[in-house]
Amino acid sequence: MRNSDHRPANVALVFGGSRGIGAAAVERLAADGYGVAFTYVSRADKANLLVAAVEAAGGQALAIQADSAHPEAIRQAVSQAVDRFGTLSVLVVNAGLLRMGTIDEVSLQDLDLMLNVNVRAVYLAIQAASPHLQDGARVITIGSNVAVRTGMPGASVYQLTKTAVAGLVKGVALDLAPRGITVNNIQPGPTNTDMNAGAIDMLAERSPLKRVAQPQEIAGLISYLARDEARYVTGSSITIDGGLTL
Ligand SMILES: NC(=O)c1ccc[n+]([C@@H]2O[C@H](COP(=O)([O-])OP(=O)(O)OC[C@H]3O[C@@H](n4cnc5c(N)ncnc54)[C@H](OP(=O)(O)O)[C@@H]3O)[C@@H](O)[C@H]2O)c1
Repeated sequence: MRNSDHRPANVALVFGGSRGIGAAAVERLAADGYGVAFTYVSRADKANLLVAAVEAAGGQALAIQADSAHPEAIRQAVSQAVDRFGTLSVLVVNAGLLRMGTIDEVSLQDLDLMLNVNVRAVYLAIQAASPHLQDGARVITIGSNVAVRTGMPGASVYQLTKTAVAGLVKGVALDLAPRGITVNNIQPGPTNTDMNAGAIDMLAERSPLKRVAQPQEIAGLISYLARDEARYVTGSSITIDGGLTL
């Protein structure tokens, strides 16, 4: 029997898994033994390479094209993941985008896009996945340390969206607690991904540890929250930013 023929006991779905923090989460959860479905919006090349890498390491992965800006695409992604692997043990809602601009610069289009992908889609992903989450499952959102403090102009909409996610998890944690499902929000600081291309040196200089995070360090916290020993952690926003917001 090929490895891809059997259904894994533990299943994770990662929204926005083709690059950066999401891709590191896919690789880490696959290494932890999960069958992992993940979405991407446009980078099929990266998504396919990631599936190949997981399979080469003996794991199972499924790439799903789904734009989180569209509610129906979110629902379809959940259906495809469940059809392939079965009910979900872990949901990671990571897809997000950053468009900088001061209050005088941000367009209505960028405002709507960030609200839809960074906030509405987080709620809709959890809502769509909820009927398919096992009792005791884990929901993990990826917010940002900018919910604590940005210290720079031009990030107000991004800060608005990530602060909204920190609030959202508190309420959803109470909604899902009767099923033993935990809901937590990871707030990374600057991390070495495409989102920060060109700004890594500047961001490292601002950090007390004089470096940015590696995506694998954020994935390590995702892995912890998915484990049994984290079952009493819920409704929390956990900042992992090398002390930047202290
Ligand atoms: N990097 C940081 O410093 C940092 C710090 C704090 C928080 N965060 C948060 O961490 C998360 C991941 O950031 P990252 O730096 O890893 O970003 P990234 O390198 O730009 O990767 C973004 C990922 O999300 C996917 N995505 C973007 N828009 C999407 C959409 N509309 N529908 C579905 N998928 C979508 C992308 O898919 P494609 O590959 O198809 O484009 C990609 O897989 C975001 O929520 C971000 O706000 C990042």
